Amino acid sequence: MAAEKKKVLLGVTGGIAAYKACEIVRGLQKAEVDVRVVMTENATKFVGPLTFEALTGHAVGVDEFGYPGDAIPHIHLAQDCDLFLIAPCTMNCAAKLACGLADDLLTSAALATTAPLLVAPAANTQMYTSPASLNNMATLSLRGVELVEADEGYLACGVEGRGRMAEPQRIVERALALLGVRGDMSGVSLMITAGPTIEPIDPVRYITNFSSGKTGYSLARAAARRGADVTIVSGPVAVDPPEGVTVVSVRTAREMRDAAAEVFPACDLAIFAAAVADLRPEDESDRKLKKGLDDAALSTIRLAENPDILSELGHAKREHQVVVGFAAETHDVVDNARKKLIAKNADMIIANEVGPEKAFGTEGNEIYMITAAGEEHLPYMLKSELADIVLDRVLDLR
Ligand code: C5P
Repeated sequence: MAAEKKKVLLGVTGGIAAYKACEIVRGLQKAEVDVRVVMTENATKFVGPLTFEALTGHAVGVDEFGYPGDAIPHIHLAQDCDLFLIAPCTMNCAAKLACGLADDLLTSAALATTAPLLVAPAANTQMYTSPASLNNMATLSLRGVELVEADEGYLACGVEGRGRMAEPQRIVERALALLGVRGDMSGVSLMITAGPTIEPIDPVRYITNFSSGKTGYSLARAAARRGADVTIVSGPVAVDPPEGVTVVSVRTAREMRDAAAEVFPACDLAIFAAAVADLRPEDESDRKLKKGLDDAALSTIRLAENPDILSELGHAKREHQVVVGFAAETHDVVDNARKKLIAKNADMIIANEVGPEKAFGTEGNEIYMITAAGEEHLPYMLKSELADIVLDRVLDLR
């Protein structure tokens, strides 16, 4: 019999980040969590209750005295949840929670619940950092309320600063951790190589490529959300690591090989998403190269081949291990990927065409998943969406 679903009551208050609450609903649902929504009157000015009704399949509570079929919804909704998440939580709502005010359905339910309370505040920087707001949030924190602190960034009011609601996936990760949800990858140990490598020419210059690390990090984030024990062996990137993931930072291909070789033996799955530089300058000058080099020095950087990490570890893999590689190609995408599947002894190669808005540095991608059994094409979609589908297929290979 399937385990009973965990229940989250999501309170949405009236800030521009209310639209991001839709993504929170989706993220929780992907982890098999049942979500019900209550909104403040102001929140309905940003997102219609119908949107949340359609997403959750449940009536949305706004009015304390108008919830269908329930005369005391603030009590029943508050009792029937494993976690009460308020996202976004305006500074007004944070103040009410700190004082214990209960003048609408959302705040009444917050006062009535015995479930853990998780709050994702969001506001204009001045409002967020005002002494009153900071005091209120400190009060909540001391009372055991979990806070997902707002990010710094560009705010809807046109200023830069702290106050932008944390990214939905960060909020979902915290909610799932509090719920103790064990995903379908719990017990799975996964290594992912990600990002570019950099290959020094001298102490200040290097050869690298356009990889952003987004593909590898999206896979890591999705796998961690699904309960896997994830280690990223990462070249230099500007993306934030997901919560709860171990990151081993490296610079060169040889450092990546050494780190990956150390992590690999204890892994069940390994995904090689890094854009490893195939070639490196053979000699790294220990001094910064200066202008005025002679012709011979100007016309040569001798290159040496880097180790092929996927191939080395693919051939070292043991029976229970599944190895997945990537292939960025400019032509004959599927044919070339199929050759790599065999040459590198991988169980799957994920191939994509390199081009504008595809592969390197972009938010989305179009891929082919190639295994000994055949191939599957996934049309262009966000890397975060691709990640879950790729993981589904990789798990099928075990
Ligand atoms: O042979 P090619 O570089 O196209 O293969 C790409 C795949 O091999 C990717 O999964 C990449 O992470 C991996 N690779 C590697 N070490 C290299 C080059 C590529 O692990 N030196």
